Amino acid sequence: MKKLIIANWKCNPTTEKEAQKILLGLRAGVKNNKTEVVVCPPFVYLPEAGKILKAKSNIKIGSQNCFWEEKGAFTGEVSAKMLQDLGVKYVILGHSERIMIMEETTEMTAKKVKAVLKNNLTPIICLGETGEEKRQGKTFQVIEKEFRESLQGIAKSQIQRIIIAYEPLWAISPSDRICSADDALIVALFIRKLVFSLAGQKASQNIRVLYGGSVEAKNAGDYLQNNAINGLLVGGTSLNVKDFISMVKRV
Ligand code: PGA
Repeated sequence: MKKLIIANWKCNPTTEKEAQKILLGLRAGVKNNKTEVVVCPPFVYLPEAGKILKAKSNIKIGSQNCFWEEKGAFTGEVSAKMLQDLGVKYVILGHSERIMIMEETTEMTAKKVKAVLKNNLTPIICLGETGEEKRQGKTFQVIEKEFRESLQGIAKSQIQRIIIAYEPLWAISPSDRICSADDALIVALFIRKLVFSLAGQKASQNIRVLYGGSVEAKNAGDYLQNNAINGLLVGGTSLNVKDFISMVKRV
């Protein structure tokens, strides 16, 4: 299975010109066919990302969110159907910043997952505990709850189409704490166990589990040494073209 590196630009950069510069830099630098690369810019830059990357590179395009209904009176929302029409292939869902800042719930994530699957896109579901939950020894409990709630109502046959990213909230930048490769691996194995209990052995082997949280070019390879982790979800470093390309080359 190819390693998957997903760039989550979050709410950056602030101008289309800067976005173009990053996209052109990635197009020129990511030539590596042994790694799958996905770029998730803000919605407004998706058409430009399509123009620059589609047909001219192997980099796929993802979005950072979507709405569960297809269309209608939902001011400010962007549907999975619209993203699919634009050529988007992946959608990040349930990111901790949406849960903590925008107060989204796991029930909302589950509805979005269904809409994304229905439109033949790949959902990337983020799971992770807070620093306080970790301190209280609740990591597995929290991950299991988020996992079950975010996948509520999804057919067993669909589970392996989903990507799960373990993103401990306490390790997401600008945190000064780092999740060790061993700790990330233990949770990734736990997530596979949850997939096994929900959808069976084949799904638990086929599903892609990623790690995310302060990944840099210099530590990226550490997380990928064991095949239980299939890739990385990268925030801050993904905006630095040079560092991101060097990460892709190294893994
Ligand atoms: P970070 O973000 O790499 O900047 O820590 C990861 C994420 O939140 O997806």
